[in-house]
Amino acid sequence: MRESESTVSTAAAATLSRPERQSDIGISGLSKSYGLPGHEVMAMNDVTLDVASGEFVAIVGASGCGKSTLLRILAGFEKPSTGTVLVAGAPVTGPGSDRGVVFQDYGLFPWLTVRENVAYGPRQHGVGRRDARRAADHFLELVGLTRSASKFPGQLSGGMQQRVAIARVLANDPAVLLMDEPFGALDALTRTELQTELRRIHRANAATIVFVTHSIEEAVYLADRVVVMTGGAAHGVPGHIRQIVPVNLGDDRDPSSLEFNAVKRMIADLVHEGSDHV
Ligand SMILES: Nc1ncnc2c1ncn2[C@@H]1O[C@H](COP(=O)(O)OP(=O)(O)OP(=O)(O)O)[C@@H](O)[C@H]1O
Ligand SMILES: [Mg+2]
Repeated sequence: MRESESTVSTAAAATLSRPERQSDIGISGLSKSYGLPGHEVMAMNDVTLDVASGEFVAIVGASGCGKSTLLRILAGFEKPSTGTVLVAGAPVTGPGSDRGVVFQDYGLFPWLTVRENVAYGPRQHGVGRRDARRAADHFLELVGLTRSASKFPGQLSGGMQQRVAIARVLANDPAVLLMDEPFGALDALTRTELQTELRRIHRANAATIVFVTHSIEEAVYLADRVVVMTGGAAHGVPGHIRQIVPVNLGDDRDPSSLEFNAVKRMIADLVHEGSDHV
């Protein structure tokens, strides 16, 4: 007899049964201008980047260099002025359920409870009420919000709402995760816990992750490669990729090790050079 689906959490079942997912990202010659015709400002120019299926890429760079612009284009929320984005070989023409998004504004449904917010995606995808609730509780436990499951978003702090947004995206089990400073509003302890959890989830479900952060330490701790962007309107040149730094530190990274700090310092130099000499 087939194993009853209700004995396995939805997310775990999806993870166990999933064939290798194609979720590579191809970004080519991307630029983005804002403003009225004749008064346009080019926010980002000539961004080309390939991200392999299952790869974890972090993007760092000074404020205004185009990190969020790039992520919004990948998410399909904005159209590029030039260039193309392919996900799993198909052009991005708008938002899609293949790409889960965690941005700075949480985008929760205020009229649904925390648990209902997290269960919403699985329910939309045809998961039964009980299994969706089970998946929601699993991810709420992961982000430390079990006791807030029956509250409404308006009753939670900013950091707690951000954790609900993260649980909600993870419950959808997207092939591509786009995260724009997802841990920025969290206290240090929760942030460290969620970093560890995100690495574990990434290893388990092989999602392709593009993760924007202001913390170079966080980028080096999480990513396979760190993309350093520089420029931006304040520097008189459009934002662009300065350098891509591979992080060859294995799975057990120790932020206090010499190797870790050497990579961190090198990236910090690239970020600061970029903002000084433009
Ligand atoms: N909707 C918009 N209209 C006009 N200009 C915009 C718009 N969105 C972004 N910009 C400009 O594009 C540039 C890049 O902005 P973006 O938000 O991508 O930067 P960022 O690297 O994410 O910065 P931060 O680290 O502060 O979040 C900035 O100069 C910004 O002013
Ligand atoms: Mg931003």
